[in-house]
Amino acid sequence: MTTQIETTVEEQVEAYQPENSIHSAITITDESFAELRDYVYHHSGIYLTENKKRLLEKRMSSRLSTLGFGDFSAYLKHLKQLSGQGKELNSLIDIVTVNETSFFRNEFQLKALENVVFPEIFEKKTSNNDQLFRILCVGCSSGEEPYTLAMILNHRFSEKLKEVKVEIIGTDISQQVVKRAYEGIYKEFSLKNVEREYLQKYFTRRGDNFVLNQDIRRVVHFRQVSTIDESQMKSLGMFDLILCRNVLIYFKQESKTKAVNTLYQILNPGGYLFVGHSESLYGIEHEFRFVHFVKAIGYQKPDLPERKSHREGD
Ligand SMILES: C[S@@+](CC[C@H](N)C(=O)[O-])C[C@H]1O[C@@H](n2cnc3c(N)ncnc32)[C@H](O)[C@@H]1O
Repeated sequence: MTTQIETTVEEQVEAYQPENSIHSAITITDESFAELRDYVYHHSGIYLTENKKRLLEKRMSSRLSTLGFGDFSAYLKHLKQLSGQGKELNSLIDIVTVNETSFFRNEFQLKALENVVFPEIFEKKTSNNDQLFRILCVGCSSGEEPYTLAMILNHRFSEKLKEVKVEIIGTDISQQVVKRAYEGIYKEFSLKNVEREYLQKYFTRRGDNFVLNQDIRRVVHFRQVSTIDESQMKSLGMFDLILCRNVLIYFKQESKTKAVNTLYQILNPGGYLFVGHSESLYGIEHEFRFVHFVKAIGYQKPDLPERKSHREGD
């Protein structure tokens, strides 16, 4: 079964062409589209549905021209000769991914984290004498999501942070956005949901740009990793909390299942998974427990059963 991929407003505007407009997009044949779709799917888990055809023509045309290819079949031949290695796969992934994000996206999920999940994890860490709290933001785009968590933790949990160290890892398959995330420099429009208090405390204005302060940047590390690459995902270690928001929506059921199973494996028992507010794990076989928060839902990996005390004579 194929999951229908939502077309965002951003994509609809980009794909729109008035009937009499002159545009130089290179047309993709059905055959080349199917080949490119399978290639992208194999390397990323992203499934390009038919309605992405015009968008792809528009986005890919200048890349083809830059490389000197007059049609998609020549480009595909070149791509396959590279056998999934190097720069061209990165460029293709940069083109086909939708990287829309913002600071403080989905306030109800963030409230659930701030009011319930973070206090619960800190308490557990303290009582287990565990001094490391690890968070993973999968498909974090240009970093706004992990940096938002780092700001909330720094602002609201400064006392706890003296006892427990927080480490946040942001991953994305797109090389371009990982580079931007590292830089930590943002334009005014991406700060639309940032409260004045946070803006003044954590950003420094430099001309038209807002630079995120070092205190926040040093808590977050970024890696270019594909969510469907199980061994790379496992090499990131174990986490107490995973956010995988607005990423699975671009996957087919099969890659979605694979990704969710991997996320389950790299979560500590009792750890939480949050997906985008319009997403769910519906239709995927999994062992998570469904958790309700105020106007938000999450998934929790069952905690380890209490160790049975030894009976006399055992
Ligand atoms: C719409 S953005 C969501 C950003 C952020 N999580 C949020 O909710 O604001 C989706 C991101 O997922 C990334 N992505 C897509 N497929 C991926 C994969 N297989 N592995 C890692 N990242 C992926 C894209 O590059 C993109 O930056």
